[in-house]
Amino acid sequence: MRFDPNLDAESAPNIDHLLRANFPTEFEANLVSGLRNSRKMCAEHGLWDHGSLVGYIGYTRVRIEGVDSKRQIWGLGPMAIDSAHQRQGVGSKFLTESLDYIEVDAVVLVGHAEFYAKHGFRPASEFGLTYGDDSTRESAFFALECWKGALDGHAGHVLYEDAFYRE
Ligand SMILES: CC(C)(COP(=O)(O)OP(=O)(O)OC[C@H]1O[C@@H](n2cnc3c(N)ncnc32)[C@H](O)[C@@H]1OP(=O)(O)O)[C@@H](O)C(=O)NCCC(=O)NCCS
Repeated sequence: MRFDPNLDAESAPNIDHLLRANFPTEFEANLVSGLRNSRKMCAEHGLWDHGSLVGYIGYTRVRIEGVDSKRQIWGLGPMAIDSAHQRQGVGSKFLTESLDYIEVDAVVLVGHAEFYAKHGFRPASEFGLTYGDDSTRESAFFALECWKGALDGHAGHVLYEDAFYRE
């Protein structure tokens, strides 16, 4: 499998197919297509297997309400691994490679606790970060400092790009 740190415009159909097939609704596929068209993606990483895209991770910038920060804080997501390759360690290796590649201060995400905890993510509440109003989303909200103290003085409500809030 080949890690691709620079998915280009021509990968759009592959990304769309992967996201439609591996999420219960079209939300993630439409979200990524909109973010790509409006050039809001900070980075997009792919995993290719014999010409098929079997993994995808997109990153966007996030802001913290009321905090004027120079730090690079990115939101990770969506992330998907093709169903035929899930639960075989592929996502873990891909995530490690992806996090090693980006040069940022911190990463936040909404996702499966068991998966991301294995990669150093902590409940975002430990850093005083909040995401949504409902407790389900809050309990799935995680943060990773890329260096110790990166999120010091950064407590507050995290705001993603507007497209994340459209149904
Ligand atoms: C979540 C996902 C990216 C993980 O990739 P993966 O290649 O399956 O992960 P790995 O094989 O490296 O690690 C597996 C571990 O991740 C966790 N995990 C994987 N899928 C999970 C799920 N649907 N729910 C909860 N935990 C999950 C478990 O801890 C699992 O360990 P186990 O197999 O011993 O139970 C992948 O399953 C996926 O794309 N799912 C569908 C899309 C999705 O839900 N994306 C959102 C991610 S937040």
